Amino acid sequence: MKEHLPTHVAFIMDGNGRWAQKRGLARLKGHAQGIETVRTVCEELSKLGVEYATFYTFSTENWKRPWEEVGGLFTLMRTYFKNEMKQIMDKNLRVLFIGDHSETSKLPADILTLMTDVETQTKDNTGLTITFAINYSGRDELLRAATKLVQQSAATGEAVTPEMMAAALDTAGIPDPDFIIRTSGEQRISNFLLWQLAYAELYFSDVAWPDFTATHLQAALSSYMSRNRRFGAVPQVSAA
Ligand code: FPP
Repeated sequence: MKEHLPTHVAFIMDGNGRWAQKRGLARLKGHAQGIETVRTVCEELSKLGVEYATFYTFSTENWKRPWEEVGGLFTLMRTYFKNEMKQIMDKNLRVLFIGDHSETSKLPADILTLMTDVETQTKDNTGLTITFAINYSGRDELLRAATKLVQQSAATGEAVTPEMMAAALDTAGIPDPDFIIRTSGEQRISNFLLWQLAYAELYFSDVAWPDFTATHLQAALSSYMSRNRRFGAVPQVSAA
């Protein structure tokens, strides 16, 4: 079964707010419950032997939300990494972060430090690689990469190749996602991994992220495994 599994699964964890509102709870409770789903999904992917998972955690557009929610999300991140480091190390998980993490970004200084610390602590782990996209959007990443490449090209005179582009992205060294799962019924990409998703298989689930279970994940992976990926080529036919 492992050879048919995706190497890299990306997630748009949608529906936390609606999940909470439906229950008369603050939206933040939906995000807190969403963290439980991140745990479940990582555990299941590790068990199956999937190598990479990427989670759209905080987009560059999410700053438009009320400060109570934005600040609450950072508090959840602090608590998650404070409580979870032992388990992350025990489970041999490598954690990476993508997005604009420059000094001039609006991210709180302690979140910038936390991300560096977590990456350093987990860098030699050899199990599932989990990437959290924080202060991330695909267009922002492409613009930052293009800026680097323009400078590089001006200095060397070299033409930009697809390999140079991939190496200039935040995801340098991480294979492109084979499969992307978005929960909660919306069917769009929302500025996520725009370069990297070029050939990814898409899967949309009606289930809200906090309700997404290992069984839902298994159903999604079964759908992936039944598909025929052609990458723009014609299907393989055996010679008569
Ligand atoms: C989208 O749901 C979800 C987010 C913008 C945030 C997702 C973040 C988490 C689950 C917290 C994860 C943190 C760690 C450290 C793992 P939404 O709020 O847009 O939902 P809605 O469309 O129902 O309003």
